[in-house]
Amino acid sequence: MIIALTGTPGTGKTTICHILGKKYRIIDINRMITDEGLHTGRDEMRGSLVADIEALQGRLDELVKGETVTIIIEGHLSHYLEGSNAVIVLRTRPGVLAHRLEERAYFKEKVRENMEAEALDVILVETTLKHDMVYEVETTTSSPEDAAILVDSIIEHLAAGNFEQVERYLPGRFDWSEEVF
Ligand SMILES: Nc1ncnc2c1ncn2[C@@H]1O[C@H](COP(=O)(O)OP(=O)(O)OP(=O)(O)O)[C@@H](O)[C@H]1O
Ligand SMILES: [Mg+2]
Repeated sequence: MIIALTGTPGTGKTTICHILGKKYRIIDINRMITDEGLHTGRDEMRGSLVADIEALQGRLDELVKGETVTIIIEGHLSHYLEGSNAVIVLRTRPGVLAHRLEERAYFKEKVRENMEAEALDVILVETTLKHDMVYEVETTTSSPEDAAILVDSIIEHLAAGNFEQVERYLPGRFDWSEEVF
């Protein structure tokens, strides 16, 4: 089974995968972009690389081919890729997300952009447009360990076909649209 773990930067994807790496095979999309040069160049305004989604898809297909273990594909672009059985979107209240991004010394504009994206459900909307099985996990007040346990339990239920056990994580629980503007 392949699970995509996505969410606005700072919601905790890498932290949670670090914990779950003992149990699952993790594919880090951001690392693939930088280490394998799967980009089309640099966006100077944003100071980031522009991912080559087609190249990423091709490389991902190679990496997961014939694999029988459960794999987590991690990164804020993982929902752009095909092949996952389900997508888990991490969610963090915008004010808390801003603190996390400020700690990383992100520019004010970048903090604001990500807060707004989180408040407006941008990644969730993108994900639900592309995928059928989508679940949301909040990481605002939980510890990384508890969030990892929750993500793990969702994956276990999905693998066992216990879909009713994960219904409470279906999209639509968060409305943070009033929090930023
Ligand atoms: N419940 C939680 N789950 C995950 N991370 C948490 C949680 N609570 C606090 N954090 C903190 O939030 C930060 C998340 O950073 P992390 O690099 O994991 O985010 P990310 O989603 O991978 O971002 P990016 O898309 O930029 O790679 C870490 O400093 C982590 O300790
Ligand atoms: Mg990360």
